[in-house]
Amino acid sequence: MNIHKVAVIGAGTMGNGICHVFAQYGFQVSLVDISQNLLDKAIATIEKNLDRQVSKGVIDQETKSKALGNITCYIDIEAGVVQADLVVEAVIEELEVKRQIFYKLDQICATNALLASNTSSISITRLAAATKRPDRVIGMHFMNPVPVMKLVEIIRGYATTEIITHQISKLTEMLDKVPVVVNDYPGFISNRILMPMINEAITALHEGVAGVREIDTIMKLGMGHPMGPLQLADFIGLDVCVSILRVLYEGLGNPKYAPCPLLINMVEAGHLGVKSGEGFYQWQQGTKELVISKRFN
Ligand code: NAI
Repeated sequence: MNIHKVAVIGAGTMGNGICHVFAQYGFQVSLVDISQNLLDKAIATIEKNLDRQVSKGVIDQETKSKALGNITCYIDIEAGVVQADLVVEAVIEELEVKRQIFYKLDQICATNALLASNTSSISITRLAAATKRPDRVIGMHFMNPVPVMKLVEIIRGYATTEIITHQISKLTEMLDKVPVVVNDYPGFISNRILMPMINEAITALHEGVAGVREIDTIMKLGMGHPMGPLQLADFIGLDVCVSILRVLYEGLGNPKYAPCPLLINMVEAGHLGVKSGEGFYQWQQGTKELVISKRFN
């Protein structure tokens, strides 16, 4: 089966990036969200990011215009997915919301359509079980920012066939990205390794071993990481870190994944990182401009 038409459900941070790359590489994309306002914002973001690619010489003006012309927006999910060969779900990270969407997609999509989720931690096998086509359900875990990051972690659910896994890997290469296939266990590979590192950095801070800047500087200069784990946690969102750690903790049944009490306190205080303006650092509200935190330094 050839994939020409793609529907992306959810036009937030990840959804608009996924829509952007499919449209840039010539696919017809339906972008679905729950309000026209959110869709308008997503298109404005895609246009701004395409402009950035033009100014950097990554694409030309014609590619930008074609990409925008390849996108159609929908509030009605049924209208958005009815012709899709592939649906990529990128709504909020809540199991029940995603399960209901997969149940619905299974009923309204063509019988041979492939269903993918961009989830960062929810079991693909569980989402697939909400459908009557678990063999055609797969994880496509894009990284943020999608137009820039090369990796797509491809997650093979318990019932996903080899043929579908191969097809989705080839499709990923057509987006000039690198697919890496893993099996469906909590946190897959990316977050199973990243989140314990972030949690350990927070635990070291909590125990007073070192301050925020010391921890991040050691990991940047000593380990060659482009960004320290505490800054990265602020970028990801501390609430997101807690929810992924809970998936690891519950799914693998090992106390080493329990979120650090300091992390939980910060989330309960509404200090979520960049998106709230304060986490381990202070951020200029609504931007990624750093204002050094007084609290930890
Ligand atoms: P977001 O909150 O920016 O966007 C989610 C969008 O889904 C919102 O626009 C919301 O209105 C929409 N939505 C919610 N329910 C919907 C429904 N029933 N139908 C259509 N649209 C609906 O979230 P973000 O950050 O884009 O995350 C999306 C997914 O991607 C999550 O599963 C997350 O775990 C995953 N992810 C996030 C990364 C990140 O760095 N933000 C990285 C990799 C994966």
